[in-house]
Formats: sequence, structure tokens, C-alpha cells
Amino acid sequence: MKNRKSINFAAILATVLIAVSCQTSVNNTNQTAVNNSPQQKTSDNIPDRKWWKEAVVYQIYPRSFKDSNGDGVGDLKGITSKLDYIKSLGVDVIWLNPIFASPNDDNGYDISDYQEIMKDFGTMEDFDELLKGMHERKLKVVLDLVANHSSDEHRWFQESRKSRDNPYRNYYHWWDEEKGKPNKRVSFFDVNGDAWKYDEQTRSYYLHYFSQKQPDLNWENPQVREEMYKIMRFWFDKGVDGFRMDVIPFISKDTTFPPIPAEFKDDWGAFYSHGPHRHEYLQEMNREALSKYDVMSVGEAGVPSEEALDYVDPARKELNMFYHFEGVGLGYMPNSKKIIDPNGWSLIDFKNVYSKWDSVFAEKGWGTIYLGNHDQPRMVTRWGNDSPEFRELSSKMLSTFLLTMRSTPYYYFGDELGMNNIKFDKIEDYKDIESINWYKNIKESGGNLEEFMASQKIAARDNGRTPFQWDSTTNAGFTTGNPWLKVNPNYQTVNVAAQEKDENSVLNYFRKTAKFRKENPVLIYGTYTLLDKENPNVYAFTRELNGQKILVLLNFKAQEASVNTGFDLSKAKVLLGNYAVPSIGERLKPYEVVILEL
Ligand code: NOJ
Repeated sequence: MKNRKSINFAAILATVLIAVSCQTSVNNTNQTAVNNSPQQKTSDNIPDRKWWKEAVVYQIYPRSFKDSNGDGVGDLKGITSKLDYIKSLGVDVIWLNPIFASPNDDNGYDISDYQEIMKDFGTMEDFDELLKGMHERKLKVVLDLVANHSSDEHRWFQESRKSRDNPYRNYYHWWDEEKGKPNKRVSFFDVNGDAWKYDEQTRSYYLHYFSQKQPDLNWENPQVREEMYKIMRFWFDKGVDGFRMDVIPFISKDTTFPPIPAEFKDDWGAFYSHGPHRHEYLQEMNREALSKYDVMSVGEAGVPSEEALDYVDPARKELNMFYHFEGVGLGYMPNSKKIIDPNGWSLIDFKNVYSKWDSVFAEKGWGTIYLGNHDQPRMVTRWGNDSPEFRELSSKMLSTFLLTMRSTPYYYFGDELGMNNIKFDKIEDYKDIESINWYKNIKESGGNLEEFMASQKIAARDNGRTPFQWDSTTNAGFTTGNPWLKVNPNYQTVNVAAQEKDENSVLNYFRKTAKFRKENPVLIYGTYTLLDKENPNVYAFTRELNGQKILVLLNFKAQEASVNTGFDLSKAKVLLGNYAVPSIGERLKPYEVVILEL
């Protein structure tokens, strides 16, 4: 009912335009985005500008980007060969998932040498060449620091497990057998969920929050911390521009290993994020490594919003940014990280989450925003619509959301093509330890495998890890060999080569929108205000800076929808949209985006 009030001239005009454009043909819907420049640019008077706030981060999963030697695995030389493509996107910072030596139990998140390159990916010379190529193109490089745990094949662990009095013993968390079985700790990847693994050699248990091959490092030991800072300085001295830090709040542990306190209600992730000295160690890390260079730091940290500033308030000298899980966590069944209901989230919940997180950093600190990454399914499948009719439109809509919010966007490779979930039918197709071990766990405990497999089609991490789709040749031009993970069969049509030729492709829309963000500081620094909060279909908000006001309208639904902005849109100037004929007014076409200047 409340939309009725807003019917005005603009709405009537919009209805007429919709009627006209609907008649022109559905194919037309994906055509040109309008792209005018706003009248005023307001880059003056912005306090506390930082390059990492203004950057668009492009995340590359090296294993799946481009294989240069035909072994079926992406590598550093492959990335180097595609630097011009990366530059052409208009992004600024490249985050590479772990590239360090690793036996790949968890695709590089199990590091056996922090100062060597993974053999599958190449050599240190290949890395130096890649870094040089990036810097020549004014692209910054952020590496992935996995500091909470190493591989069990790391020299430190090999030593540590040899004897109870080995000098490296205290680099990990050991619990001697004669003290009895330690209090329960849950492992996220273990088949039976137990984070304590008994080791015959020294008759002790070691701790692993992730797989048995990922023992947790003992950060309570100052030597371990110094090793890590040394490693960080080694990479910074090479010219690396920052680190993304894996599960960083997990580093500190109460080494008496008490039972999980009742207040955590068996939420192990939350418990692990509340170790006693986490902030002390992050401040030390800042002093010893981060503060000595002009670099960025972003933590992976599923912490509640009330604690956000404890990590990123600049006065505390810890991290620049972190990313939370509240958005990507929507839709999971209660008490389950494994089973998702694809329709189990509402746009209102979604808006509430992102609006709340915007408000957290309204005065200080800085946020991040993402809808996909290597731990998530493809953004268009999860948050948009990957049907042939709407895949492109909804991909463009989601990209616009990411590029118009007041946070640093972390954009996952392949989303710029609208790549979607592969949706494997068989467990044998999955390569990810998480899917494989969860499957075994459910099987052994007599759980519902059918439900699990259906859920994996939406949520499994491998959906976001399939090889990048370069062209329509064999294996999408990713490799001349046998790809380590199956290529999505839609590569014949969804690929870079095809989209380069189409000025209205998802790819070219992404380029245009990334450029648009760059050119309009209001989209980076401007105040965010949510409009029409209870609207179940449309996400509408304004961004304001130094007198300039931009309105962003995003229809998240496959049907036409109305929004009540409270503005007279008849005089507003359309700056960008994902339809050939953008709607003027408060009625939007399916998955339509319109950006207006008020
Ligand atoms: C979070 C990483 O993003 C994920 O890929 C990994 O499996 C775990 N941490 C363990 O390192």
C-alpha cells in the first residue's frame, strides 16, 4: 500500500517506458547500460583517504585461473600471461589465495614452507616476474597469510612431533596422554569432528581446528610470533602490498584448554575467535611488521559487529579491514553450517545485515564487502538467478551492489563473466576436503546424504573454484591438459572471448561500473542511507558526499517491482543501468539496476 502514495508523473512515465521496452523483446533487456557522468565530482574535503579504501580488490584462485604448462593446475606464469586482461578490468589490488609450498590437503591453506612457492604454481623467479608485471601496471598484490596453522609437513611440525623435548615442541599445541583426554575441541574438516589427533610417537594429542594435516601453531610462544613477523617482512621487503589473514582471530588460545563456556552455546567458531591475547598479538604484529610498510591488511574474521572496531579502529593499530560472515551466512538451516535452504533468506534480512555493517564503520574504521570467494558458491547462483534468462542481468545487478557500497569491494574472479555454480551430482566430482569429509561424516553417522548433496549444489566451495572460462576451446582455454577440477560445461558460451566482443556483456558492464566507482568518490566515501527498508524486492539506498547525492535502486527479484524512495525522480539524471532503456521512476524491471543523481 505504501507504494501507492508515490505514484507520480515519473512513475507513470516509467510504466509507459516499461511497456514499450517489454514489447521490444526480452533479448533487448541485456543491452547497454546508460553511462553519463554526474555533474559534480567531489573529491575534495574527504578526510582520511587511503589507497586501500579506494581500491577494488580482485581475488584470484591461482589453481583455477590459467595453466601455463599443461599439468591441469593454474600457475603463476599463467597469471602473468593474463596481466593485461586483469588490468583491463579496472581493478587495483590482486589478492592471491595461498601460493606457498604446500602438500595441498586444503589447496594451499596448509603451508609447508612460508618462504617458498608451491611447486604446482612455479618458482620464486616466476613470482618475482609476476610481482614486477603487476607493479608495472600499477596493480598491487596481496598474499594470503595462513598464520593460525601450518601443514603437518612443515619442518617445524616435523621437528615438534619427534620428541617432547624437541626445541620446536612448543611451536604447536600438544596435550600429553597421561593428563587424560583433553577437553573437546571441534575440527571443521575432520571426518569425526575431533580437533585433537593422537600421535603415537610422543603419546600426545595435537590440536587442529581444520584438517589433521593442519596443526594449529602456538601463538602463545613468542618464538612463533617472531617467525611469523619475519615471514611477513620477507614478503614486504620483496614488494608485496599486503596480506589477507586467514582465520586471524583464532590465533590466541587458552592453553589450559577449558571446556567451552556455556555463553558460546556450542558455536565453536565464535569460541575460537575469543582467545585471550588476540588483540595483543595483532598490535604486536602491527608494530613488528605492518606499520613498517605502506601495506594493507585484511583479516578473515567472523566476529560480531559489536567487536568490529576492536580490530579496525585505526587508533588501536591492528588491522585495516576484515570481512564478516553475516551476509554470506544467510539461508543456512538453524544449527547447520552444512545444509542450506536456497530460499531461506529474505531481501529484508540481507539489507539489514549490510546496513548494520555500514553503520559500524560510520565514524571510524573501514568495511569490506563481498558476495563470492573461494569459500563460497558463485555469487549469481546464490544471490541472483543463474537461469539462462536472468544470469546476465542478475550478475550485473549484484556487481553494481558490490561496487556502490561504502566498503572496499572484494570481487571474485569469474564473477565478472557471470560464472555460475557447476552443481555436481556425484561426490566423486568434488575435490574439496570440506565436501568430501562432511560427506563421509554424514554417511558414517547415518545422516541424510541426499539432502546434503542437494545442498552442496548451492553451497559447496568447489562451485566457486572451477577453472576460469577464457574461450570456447577445449577446457575453456584454461589448460591443454586435464583440469584438476571439471570445467563448467557452459564455457562454450560463457567466456572472456565471447564477452569481449559484446559491448553489453557482463564483463564490459563490470568494467564500466568499476570505472564509474573510481570516478565518483561519493560511491567510495559517501554516507549510506537505506530507503524503503521493508520493501521485500528492491534494495534502495543513497550515497551522499559534499552536497552530491546518488540513488541506487536494485531489484533483487525476477519480477517487476516497485520502490518508494520518497524523491521526485522525474528530474533525476540516470547515470547507469543494466537495461537498454532504464526505468525512470519507482517501478523496476526484473533484476534491474538504476543509478540516479538526485
Ligand atoms: C579459511 C579459508 O578461507 C579456507 O579456504 C580454509 O579452508 C580455512 N580457512 C582453513 O585455512
